Amino acid sequence: MFNVSREFAPPFSLIAPFFVLGSIFYLVAAFLLPMFDAHTTHFDIALVGWAHLFLLGFVMMIIFGAMAQLVPVVLEVGHFSVDFYYLIWPFLAIGTIVMVAGFWLAPAVLPYGGLMVLLSMLIFLADTILTLRKVERVSLTVKTVAVTNAFLLLGILVGFAMALGIGVGVGVDITKWLNAHIVLVLGGYVTLTIMGMSLILLPMFGLSHGFDEKPINRSFKIMVGGVLLYLLASLIDWDGLRFVALLTMLVAMGFYLYQIWLIYKTRARKENDIWFKSMAFGYGSLAISVIIGLGALLSGSEHLGLAAVWFLVMGFFTFLINGHLYKIIPFLVWFERYSPLVGKERVPMLAEMYPKKMADYEFWFSAAGVAIAGLGLLVGSDTLFKAGAAFIATGAVFLLTSVRWMLKFGK
Ligand code: HEM
Repeated sequence: MFNVSREFAPPFSLIAPFFVLGSIFYLVAAFLLPMFDAHTTHFDIALVGWAHLFLLGFVMMIIFGAMAQLVPVVLEVGHFSVDFYYLIWPFLAIGTIVMVAGFWLAPAVLPYGGLMVLLSMLIFLADTILTLRKVERVSLTVKTVAVTNAFLLLGILVGFAMALGIGVGVGVDITKWLNAHIVLVLGGYVTLTIMGMSLILLPMFGLSHGFDEKPINRSFKIMVGGVLLYLLASLIDWDGLRFVALLTMLVAMGFYLYQIWLIYKTRARKENDIWFKSMAFGYGSLAISVIIGLGALLSGSEHLGLAAVWFLVMGFFTFLINGHLYKIIPFLVWFERYSPLVGKERVPMLAEMYPKKMADYEFWFSAAGVAIAGLGLLVGSDTLFKAGAAFIATGAVFLLTSVRWMLKFGK
């Protein structure tokens, strides 16, 4: 599966904390979701705090953990220093908690949390940039890694500037920069990273090959163009250009979805396991998000905009991440505990190394939750939103239990 030699493979003890902490943050964030209702706006500071709890504590934590494993696979060189990763998760976890406390309780501590998160990300970026310098063959994925990391850096610097504005009163126009921050981190980093990684992971797990890669190449360029246009629009404060930039990003997502369809059509593995189901729900959510996003853009409705972001973050990001946990964790555990035993005794298959029932419960509760709460947001029903949130919280309990089960396998 992952083509990593022992020399490149990061130690298990280094990656496990990312996945455990990520699932704990997911659980806590899921239990706090009912604080909101279908009428919450994105300016609400309680939502800003929650967004960072979820996006930094869960999404970024797991992406960074996965990157420790995937950077050598996709770049085909070893990490500059994998030991950097021992510093990333403590700074990210503590920084996130302090930042959330800053948003919710004491604005004065916000810059301290922001600084810790900034530090953890700068360490991640330093390792990635120094690793990139060793690369000889510049493929699309290598370019993706370089560009997305530049967007992440810009995005967190803008975030940090806003945190200084809130915490110590430095003159930063938050209304001007807030959306640029969101576009840089969600579009420029998370979405583009998922696009780059999925081009490697989906064909590998679905055994697809021989498909045309033009749509993803186009999608990548259009998306980068869209993010850059948005940045320009923020700099010159021009709403017309913001509109064009957002439209450009939606077009990029259209090409990306077409690419996924091509990969799906050429897959040789037809098994509908938990990974496949999670991908199907994730990409379905992305398609819904693009359609609602287009509606939001044309109507200018905040309400529709939030629903589009809901399906993007809770449907697309979350299901792509969680679905891959059922592949990545068993592989890491297998590599650590069983690869030395190959040829000496019977070793388990990867498919035996995740809890099928629990994973299924996680999938169905979470999927029902995202759909019900998403519908609640669309029709403005607080009851539906809160019911959906309760389903998501139940799914999160199953996720954490599944992650612990997989990490303990064979111990
Ligand atoms: C050093 C790291 C970061 C800092 C200091 C930071 C700080 C901030 C600040 C100050 C705001 C505006 C609050 C307001 O409206 O008054 C904000 C909004 C936001 N940030 Fe960050 N941020 C950071 C990283 C990130 C990352 C990595 C992500 C996503 C992966 C992210 C996602 C968001 C989102 C989605 C919002 C808008 C939330 C809403 O309007 O409800 N941030 N951030």
